[in-house]
Amino acid sequence: MEVIVRPEATIFAIFGAGGDLTRRKLIPALYNLFFDHWLPDQFSIICLDRARMSNDKFLQRLRQGVDQFSRRGKAEDASWKDFASHLTFTTANLEDPECFSALAKRLAAQGKAWSPQANTIFYLAVPPRMIEPITQGLGKARLNLNRNRARIVVEKPFGRDLVSARSLNRTLTAIFGESQIFRIDHYLGKETVQNILAFRFGNTLFEPVWNRHYIDHIQITVAEQVGVEHRGDYYEHAGALRDMIQNHLLQILCLVAMEAPVSFDDNEVRNKKVDVLHAIRPISPDQINQFAVRGQYGAGWIEGEHVPAYRAEPSVAPDSHTETYAAVKVFVDNWRWQDVPFYLRTGKRLPARISEVAIQFRPVPHQTFPPAALLDWRPNRLLLSIQPEEGILLRFEVKHPGPTMRLSPVMMQFYYKEAFQVAPPEAYETLLLDVMRGDATLYMRADQAEAAWSVLAPVLEVWEAVNATDFPNYQAGAWGPEEAEILIAQDGRSWVMPTFLQCQEGTAVCRATLVPQK
Ligand code: BG6
Repeated sequence: MEVIVRPEATIFAIFGAGGDLTRRKLIPALYNLFFDHWLPDQFSIICLDRARMSNDKFLQRLRQGVDQFSRRGKAEDASWKDFASHLTFTTANLEDPECFSALAKRLAAQGKAWSPQANTIFYLAVPPRMIEPITQGLGKARLNLNRNRARIVVEKPFGRDLVSARSLNRTLTAIFGESQIFRIDHYLGKETVQNILAFRFGNTLFEPVWNRHYIDHIQITVAEQVGVEHRGDYYEHAGALRDMIQNHLLQILCLVAMEAPVSFDDNEVRNKKVDVLHAIRPISPDQINQFAVRGQYGAGWIEGEHVPAYRAEPSVAPDSHTETYAAVKVFVDNWRWQDVPFYLRTGKRLPARISEVAIQFRPVPHQTFPPAALLDWRPNRLLLSIQPEEGILLRFEVKHPGPTMRLSPVMMQFYYKEAFQVAPPEAYETLLLDVMRGDATLYMRADQAEAAWSVLAPVLEVWEAVNATDFPNYQAGAWGPEEAEILIAQDGRSWVMPTFLQCQEGTAVCRATLVPQK
């Protein structure tokens, strides 16, 4: 039986609580944690925002958010009422020091009422320009001083290049200790992303072949069906490389490529991950086109519906040069991975929402069978499926039934839903619980964030200096621009066609619908 160790008394102060993140992610996650009895008896959530709104109106908005976005669907009346009694809304000008001294008084009063002293978590759900004034406000109000209990959570984007990330780190570390700073990357909270560690280091079976001697190459795909939605303002200054590859895809790469940690201690795991980033071969600016491809979607069709081009989306310039697709090839120069390519790709308005890691093994060293037996032969492939379905699939060869020797590829499949019959928690649930416990394993350390920017700096610089002349270069509903096919084809390989996983409606039995596997 699972032993539930609940965090100690905790006060959350959410800055920018009137925004989308609080309604869509933070409150649904906290409500689910409450519902599952993970929150301590003594907890309170102080929501601060410059918007003027009554407490009731604000709570009503949050409840609608839970109803719409929680993995459980609509909140239950009684439990919502109970949960909401821990929530308060305060209109506050976050640029005014007075707001922080008022908060300090409130926290001190709350702390006195509770014993032992409470953890305080300052959650910055604000645009990047607000990070500095809030951090300084917290410092001036001396809310940073309790090194063991005061924590600050910072959302992405964590800077927009190496220089700005360094400056952000300087701002934060001038006031908080590194152990108090939690830089969030929600992909690290996803169950299947964490499962990469369990799978690799909880089994003896795969680790011996997890290296350049057996693995031909690795592909990491995070495909989105949605377009830029209502985030044109932000996305125009970000683009796919900054928005997805710098954080989510590089973090997945680290988990796939890292050495075995000695323990599950947060810094030990993060040391091993940052080693991977440091080992990535720098991309030379004159080779960018052989290592990186960008794309932007034009109008097209997604599941029978016509969707507009990126340049026609709200808050997007009609001649925008922002990429909505990026593919990058990297090498990890160390003993384990020398010369094994890692291909990373992500894009918006692709045919499906699929995130997966495909580990393609080398062919057998010698083919024993006659050519006729090998017509369907395919190399072994391991698929770590992150979403929409969560599972692991292994492709291997068997004898095709019949009187002649003929090999056929088959799949061995594991699905979370099927095996455990429970819905995994949302990434934010895991991450919020971790910050309450002070466990930073799944959060980014300062050096990780900077190392990830260093890896991409040459690409960002060239892309910024030279506009793409062919945008839009893929149609919404296609798997990205043709250059992305060329990027991998020049190495004699091709992108793995993602494995669409479908659950049979109404049953827990899942099935892999195998699309042709190259
Ligand atoms: C966010 C990006 O970090 O991740 C978004 O800013 C993207 O652009 C989102 O849509 C994807 O997350 P998920 O969990 O839906 O795959």
